[in-house]
Amino acid sequence: MADGTWVTLGPAADIPAGKSKDFPLGEQNILVANCNGVFFAIEDRCTHDDAPLADGRVLQRSCELECPRHGARFDLKTGKALSLPAFNAVASYQLRTTTEGVLEVNTETTKPEQRHEDPRGIGFGFSL
Ligand code: FES
Repeated sequence: MADGTWVTLGPAADIPAGKSKDFPLGEQNILVANCNGVFFAIEDRCTHDDAPLADGRVLQRSCELECPRHGARFDLKTGKALSLPAFNAVASYQLRTTTEGVLEVNTETTKPEQRHEDPRGIGFGFSL
């Protein structure tokens, strides 16, 4: 169980499958996406060039979010960057739904360590 504080966001029914919505959380925004009826929350800021991810496409087949600016894709479950031009993960948050269908987010974030890795798994090293 997460140690952070649970914050009420709003009705889950406001976010249909394949859609997302941004919410203020402290000094930043988070994005909540509905992938085939399962909700995920990630930081609403692309790690490539700081674009808001809120207008990005939810790819329901793979539960990924595509950045609307240059097309980097992020894993909605983990926040991990899956394609260029983003190399670094976005933070992800735990979500829960109350019995009344209201989404709540935990303020404690998790962020996979991904700095300076090519999301395709290809190293940058080369030899002469
Ligand atoms: S700002 Fe998101 S891919 Fe460039």
